[in-house]
Amino acid sequence: MSDQVDPARRMWMAITCGAGAVGAGFTAVPFVASFLPSERARAAGAPVEVDISALKPGEKLTVEWRGKPVWIVKRTSDQLATLPKVEPQLADPKSARNPDLTPEYARNEYRSIKPEVFVTVGICSHLGCSPIDKFQTGAQPSLPDDWTGGFLCPCHGSTFDMAGRVYKNKPAPDNLEVPPHMYLSDNRLVIGDDKKA
Ligand code: FES
Repeated sequence: MSDQVDPARRMWMAITCGAGAVGAGFTAVPFVASFLPSERARAAGAPVEVDISALKPGEKLTVEWRGKPVWIVKRTSDQLATLPKVEPQLADPKSARNPDLTPEYARNEYRSIKPEVFVTVGICSHLGCSPIDKFQTGAQPSLPDDWTGGFLCPCHGSTFDMAGRVYKNKPAPDNLEVPPHMYLSDNRLVIGDDKKA
């Protein structure tokens, strides 16, 4: 994540840009209501536990962690198959440019612990807007005709693949951030902590 933007401004932009995203056809599952930590602890940045058992392939869940939207996307096998194909079009396919944005356990071809479950902070690395889902493939407004699915930042047009990797020649300097996270069991994730006791 770029440090050039004041956090308060980034939050504001995430909210305002995100509001625009709703009108643009945002279809993801909304913020999850059942967090384990208290509201006060969550606001202070406590880890957030999430049950992903109901998440189906092709769906996205959003939870809040440290005031930021964290997306959990269950990728289909078709979506996973696009990842190696788009690499030549990406600015930083191996997430080498800013390693802090990708924990070591996610520095792989999927940018995730489990290939099918992608966890990322839904804030653009340019000026902090929240990109919108563009999982549908093919030609559509603001996207190339050979679009293979991913995310579009409506503010200045940055595009990201299904692993949150930014395409070349876009204003966003970095891939989307993968937050610290770990699995407590097959379907229980903790966002904000990756140090097993
Ligand atoms: S904030 Fe995303 S492209 Fe500018």
